[in-house]
Amino acid sequence: MPLVDDLALPLSEEELSRRRFLSLLGSGALAVAGLGTAAVTLRFLEPSVLYEEDLKFALGRPEEIAIDTVLVLARQQIYVARGVNGFLALSSVCTHLGCPTRYEPEAARFACPCHGSRYSLDGRVLGGPSTRPLRRLALSLERGLLVVDAGKRVPDGTLFQVT
Ligand code: FES
Repeated sequence: MPLVDDLALPLSEEELSRRRFLSLLGSGALAVAGLGTAAVTLRFLEPSVLYEEDLKFALGRPEEIAIDTVLVLARQQIYVARGVNGFLALSSVCTHLGCPTRYEPEAARFACPCHGSRYSLDGRVLGGPSTRPLRRLALSLERGLLVVDAGKRVPDGTLFQVT
């Protein structure tokens, strides 16, 4: 029995349209897969860097901040206080579980509304579940301006003196 060569036979119009349809379908699927691969590759090549706000900022001239003043920088979550012996900057984030504390001037303290921790104006724990003081942040003087660096911690008890 002779072999029949399908490709040598003339194709019917119905067979041609089925093949065209399958060819288009295959080409479409390849195009979608190619576009998806290109999109993923481009996304991979894009740098995945987090741009954070500058953690260092100027407060103003130190001589303009009176002794016994507490500045509340709510957006930066920082307190800056000036006492007779110098300046200090504290993170206002509670060291228990991270709630924002609030300044209570009538009681001369910082208090956390979440679980009741209380801190003195120099950041020491006065009570509540927290056992660690508020984080003390670096201060410096740059071109006559008092500058807080919220990304740099300094040892507890550190005071910044302007001479
Ligand atoms: Fe402040 Fe718990 S988070 S006391």
